[in-house]
Amino acid sequence: EKGGYDYFMLKEIAEQPKAVADTLLGRIDGSGSLSLDEVRIPVSVLREVDKVVIVACGTAYHAGMIAKLAIEHWTRIPCETELASEFRYRDPILDQRTLVVAISQSGETMDTLMALRHAREQGAKVLAICNTNGSTIPRESDAVLYTHAGPEVAVASTKAFLTQLVACYLVALYLGQVRGTKWGDEIEAVIRELSDIAAAVDTVLETMEPVRELARSLADKDTVLFLGRHVGYPVALEGALKLKELAYMHAEGFAAGELKHGPIALIEKDLPVVVVVPSPRGRSVLHDKIVSNIQEIRARGARTIVIAEEGDEAVVPYADHLIRIPATPTLLQPLVATVPLQVFACELATARGNEVDQPRNLAKSVTVE
Ligand code: F6R
Repeated sequence: EKGGYDYFMLKEIAEQPKAVADTLLGRIDGSGSLSLDEVRIPVSVLREVDKVVIVACGTAYHAGMIAKLAIEHWTRIPCETELASEFRYRDPILDQRTLVVAISQSGETMDTLMALRHAREQGAKVLAICNTNGSTIPRESDAVLYTHAGPEVAVASTKAFLTQLVACYLVALYLGQVRGTKWGDEIEAVIRELSDIAAAVDTVLETMEPVRELARSLADKDTVLFLGRHVGYPVALEGALKLKELAYMHAEGFAAGELKHGPIALIEKDLPVVVVVPSPRGRSVLHDKIVSNIQEIRARGARTIVIAEEGDEAVVPYADHLIRIPATPTLLQPLVATVPLQVFACELATARGNEVDQPRNLAKSVTVE
């Protein structure tokens, strides 16, 4: 049932182009607009929403952090993303005009379930983004948008994450569409780009051999750091989480702008640092700042592993290892930038002799608070 792969995780990484395409299937109509009738929250209610709150755990939380940026940019509705386990304990401000989005692969995560129950008690509408039909979280929500990743068996989440991102973009674009925001043209363009994204993920998968080689060469390291900005920051966190859970290595993700506020003290000779570089065509100021960060850490001896868009030449002089990803619109970059980090963690785990599909101390769904 592993389809010729050694591990379910490898199979699930390879299935990502299809999973992404399946999650889009039937949700974009011929004229390039979104048809999300399955979101059974009336359009009149969605037009009145004045705040979006996203709750999730672990990898799903990282998808939520990216969703916040997309929702605020495309809809101008204030959005916050919160760890489900923290949410209800801080007495959050919620009312009928709040849309709560609960993201969960399994649909059974107790922290997320408790957060959405709390939100509904306060009168908020809850939309679930979930991969498991008929599970508890969608049953207890007002509406659900299913991700169509198919069953995810490996404990470490891969294809579920990419499809959560796709579902989040769809929700953001749909909110923009029903509310008629000034980003109308951009929304149409992004919908077109989304339709091509499965092919971009496929391209990344075809070029992963050097990443595997690199991972094997780092098997005896103790620490790997990950840096990113904007949507690259949650990607950095996700890369670090994958490495912790699979390779049992100390791994940390930082927002690159925070480097100078402390973490730069960690940089020493030969420390591997993975940097997710934003597109130079999008937010070029961020791009240039991150290139300076790469220069700074390399000057202090770090071994820089740079994930950058095809054609981005500015990073070349400072990259000890360069991992190329296809050009995408800025907000969609996580769909391609995360894939090398999954492969990296999986290969490191294998090289260290760890059980890839069943990491120690972890369970696929966490049904206790
Ligand atoms: C990481 C991982 C976990 C889950 C988290 C939420 O690879 O799998 O961090 O993402 O436990 O699980 P779900 O999405 O089922 O609510």
